This record gives sequence, C-alpha cells and structure tokens, in this order.
Amino acid sequence: MNNTQSNSIKNIHKLSIAPMMDCTDKHFRMIMRKISSKALLYTEMIVAQSLIYTKKKESFLDFNSEEHPIAIQFGGDSPEILREAARMAQDWGYDEINFNVGCPSPRVCSGNFGASLMKDPEKVARCIESLKNNCNIPVTIKHRIGVDNHDSFINLNNFVRCIANAGADRFTVHARKAILKGLNPKQNRTIPPLKYDVVKKLKELNPELLIEINGGFTNIDESLAALNDFDGVMVGRSIYKYPLRWTEIDQKVYGINTKCKSASDIIFSLIPYIEKHLSNGGKSWDICKHLINLVEGIPKAKIWRNQISTNSIRKELDIDYLLKLTSELKEMGH
Ligand SMILES: Cc1cc2nc3c(=O)[nH]c(=O)nc-3n(C[C@H](O)[C@H](O)[C@H](O)COP(=O)(O)O)c2cc1C
Repeated sequence: MNNTQSNSIKNIHKLSIAPMMDCTDKHFRMIMRKISSKALLYTEMIVAQSLIYTKKKESFLDFNSEEHPIAIQFGGDSPEILREAARMAQDWGYDEINFNVGCPSPRVCSGNFGASLMKDPEKVARCIESLKNNCNIPVTIKHRIGVDNHDSFINLNNFVRCIANAGADRFTVHARKAILKGLNPKQNRTIPPLKYDVVKKLKELNPELLIEINGGFTNIDESLAALNDFDGVMVGRSIYKYPLRWTEIDQKVYGINTKCKSASDIIFSLIPYIEKHLSNGGKSWDICKHLINLVEGIPKAKIWRNQISTNSIRKELDIDYLLKLTSELKEMGH
C-alpha cells in the first residue's frame, strides 16, 4: 500500500457524499459543492463496460471543474475492461476511482458484479490491481459487511486484507449486509439493521487501513462522533433529501472559518450555472429536481417547491421567476 497517497486521502476526505444512481449527477454535485468546498463527491455508478463501448463517453464522464475533489465509481468484473476505464477516468481528470462491491440490485448482480462479488475476493483483488496498475490516482472500494450467508467477521476481515494487498487505498464499508434474494435494492438499505460495531472491530484489527463508515448518518454531530472511530464518514440519503441540514460541514468537519449558507444564498450562487445549462439546451428540471430539496422546514416550503416544480416541468422555468421566488425565501430568512 502506498502510504504517502493514503495519508493525503486521510487528511482531505473526512466526509463524503455517497454515490447514488439517479441522484448524484453533476447538477446535484454542483449544489453540494456550494454547500461544502471540501467534501468528497462521487458520481453515480458507471458500468465500466458501458463506458468502454459507448460512443457518448462525455455523457458518462462529464463533470464541472468546480466539483473537485471528485471520485468516479465503477461497477464491473473484468480486469481488462477496468484497465481501460481507469485510464479514461484519469485522463478525464477525476481525483479518485472507486470500485463498487456493495450494490445489491438484481440487474447488477446478474452481471456478476456489485455486492455478489464480495463472495469472490480473488476476483475483486484482480479488478483492484488492474485499476491500480493503470492510473496514478487513488483507487478505493465500497462494500458491505457481508452478503447472504457470507456474513462472518472472518470472511469480512479476509476480504479486506485481500483487497488491501491488491493495493486499495481506502475502504468504504456500508455497515449492513446485502441480501441478494428476496429483498429489492431499497429494502437492502434498511434491512437488516446496521452494525457499526462490526466496522469498528474491522478498523481496530486493521489500524493501518483507511476505513470510512457508511449507512444511516442523519446529521453532522453523529458524523463527527463517528470520526473518533473511523477515518471518514460517507453520507447518502440524508444529504440528498435534506442538503440544508449539512451546511456546517466545512466549519464543523474541516475546521474552516466560513459563513454558513442559507438556501437562498445557495440558489442565488447557482443562477449563472443554471443560465448556462439552459442556454446549452438543457432542461431546468434537470437542476430543479435536486434544488427543491434545499427548501424545507419553513411554513411555505411545500408551496415554494410546488411553484418551482410546476413551472419547471410544465414549461421551461423563467430565471426571473426563480430569482423572484428566491428573493422571497431570503426575506423569510431562509
Ligand atoms: C437512490 C440510491 C441510489 C444508490 N446508488 C448507488 C450507487 O450507484 N453506487 C453505490 O455504491 N451505492 C449506491 N447507493 C447506496 C448509497 O451509496 C449508500 O451506501 C446507502 O444509501 C447507505 O447510506 P445512507 O444510509 O447514508 O443513505 C444508492 C442509494 C440510494 C438511496
């Protein structure tokens, strides 16, 4: 393991925003970058094979320069294909590559990748080696504490040791096992219960490895407490649904002395970005579907969100209208 590289990861990425299909696209990531200048952002999972064979590589790889630090997440099981994908990710300017061994979706697992790969550590090791040997950016892995009846601590520890030997720079452990038959992906994010103690034991037994905990974090104070036991915390659904509850990441997690932003501050700062997207032929709903989550916890939140949604879906949202509604938010102190 390359310690210099891993140490630099440790210093920077105490909090990351989980890869989420249909959520963490470049527009959502821009919103999050306005909230935190430091948190590590992830793409949605990109199937490496699709990336290699598509002619529209840009639509898979594109991100805004403001999004750094940003990790691209790959799903796949072929070292040869991952080799090409690693080169592309590095050339495109990504800061890290993450390999997904945690997704329980039947579609993903039927391709024999995602969580089902946890049953085959040797194969995962070959994939990690291939990624590592073909780029000079950190290569990390996201996985579960177990899958189906492969859920003993010994299995988990052996898996992590094997992948560490292959060169993985950080482990993001979703503290819940995946059940591949009988539960859909959504149920697999609530059943069975989270087991932080298992991940804690993993870190205690492998203090030299960088281990990030994932699953169930709903506020900054919980995340700060977890940083006493783990090298990082990854947050998914709570940040997506309630981004405004996370505006103190830079201050509390990274110790940066900066003013906390309100929803209206964030939306105003995104206006040039939205205008550019529209002038390039993009739809306002591409951005507004994420942006409306910023407005919550105030009396007229639902009305505000409905006004934006209706305008954005039925006809193209007028920027002047967005500015007017956002000024109203500011007057309400939101
Ligand atoms: C809508 C949705 C899509 C997801 N897509 C991915 C994905 O593409 N790759 C991945 O590794 N995990 C994916 N996940 C799992 C999350 O990254 C995360 O591990 C999980 O939601 C648990 O974290 P949380 O409790 O903070 O949400 C997804 C989760 C959700 C809710």
